[in-house]
Amino acid sequence: MKILTIILFFVLVSEGYGKCLLNDISVTQTRTGVIVKGKPEWSVTVTNKCSCAQTNVILNCSGFQSLESIDPSVLTVSTNTGFCLLTPGQLINKDGIVSFKYTWGNQFSLNPISSQSSC
Ligand SMILES: *[C@@H]1O[C@H](CO)[C@@H](O)[C@H](O)[C@H]1NC(C)=O
Repeated sequence: MKILTIILFFVLVSEGYGKCLLNDISVTQTRTGVIVKGKPEWSVTVTNKCSCAQTNVILNCSGFQSLESIDPSVLTVSTNTGFCLLTPGQLINKDGIVSFKYTWGNQFSLNPISSQSSC
């Protein structure tokens, strides 16, 4: 009985450690220096810093627009909801990087709103 309790404790603890936080998703943006139709191009790099893979990473795309098209398998933009889904249906591994570019007069914050960890 005691051993079972100890095992259960470690299972719970390890699952607790396995959970990713939104802070584990890092979003950085830089200007590429390229000007498209008079507007600057931005390069976005999203990195999964969690020790687990993550999926269904949603970024806040409120008001998001781009003069250049973005591959929907990298980022599916939903202007209606203001949410963008990163690499739909795919896992982003630990230290995995997803990057895309967009062109607009201002930078959008693209903060992560939710994600699912897959440990
Ligand atoms: C998304 O970003 C917009 C504009 O910055 C903000 O007003 C809104 O509260 C954000 N939504 C969420 C769910 O964080």
